[in-house]
Amino acid sequence: MMRIYLIGYMGSGKSTLGKKLAKYAGLQFVDMDHYLEERNYKTIPQIFAEEGEAEFRKKERKALEELSEFSDVVIATGGGAPCFFDNVHLMNRTGKTIYLNIDPGILADRLMESKTERPLIKGKSKEELIHFIDETLKKRNEFYSQAHYQITDPDTGLDEILKMIERD
Ligand code: S3P
Repeated sequence: MMRIYLIGYMGSGKSTLGKKLAKYAGLQFVDMDHYLEERNYKTIPQIFAEEGEAEFRKKERKALEELSEFSDVVIATGGGAPCFFDNVHLMNRTGKTIYLNIDPGILADRLMESKTERPLIKGKSKEELIHFIDETLKKRNEFYSQAHYQITDPDTGLDEILKMIERD
């Protein structure tokens, strides 16, 4: 049985890599944000606007608890997911965690281009975004760095990733 969690900052490419990896390895793919939206009949921006971040984090925890029982799956988690409650431990206990550790400058470029609505960074200029990424990464690194594996090169091959996981 295989359960892989991809973790990392917004824009680090968790969903893009997750879909490819799942297909390559013959696993199911789940995007945690989409799962959470379907389970709650609301979009993430709606949850943030109507109920606030704290409530969103509780729903995120609930979604993670459910997903931690899925088998043969690659799960692309939300960027903040490992950093609240003891989520990173739950992931580490129930699967293999891979941190997509991507350069903040690349994250900023990608997020400026992205069409996905993300309440935490909505309306920020490039400069504000760079500052926000730096500040949040300072807090989040403590959690991200607890992942079993790290990928720093966005072009790391799927084969290499699977070998890395299967080695231990
Ligand atoms: C968040 C990241 C988002 C989403 C929400 C909050 C965060 O997911 O869960 O907007 O706190 O970093 P992505 O990493 O898929 O953008």
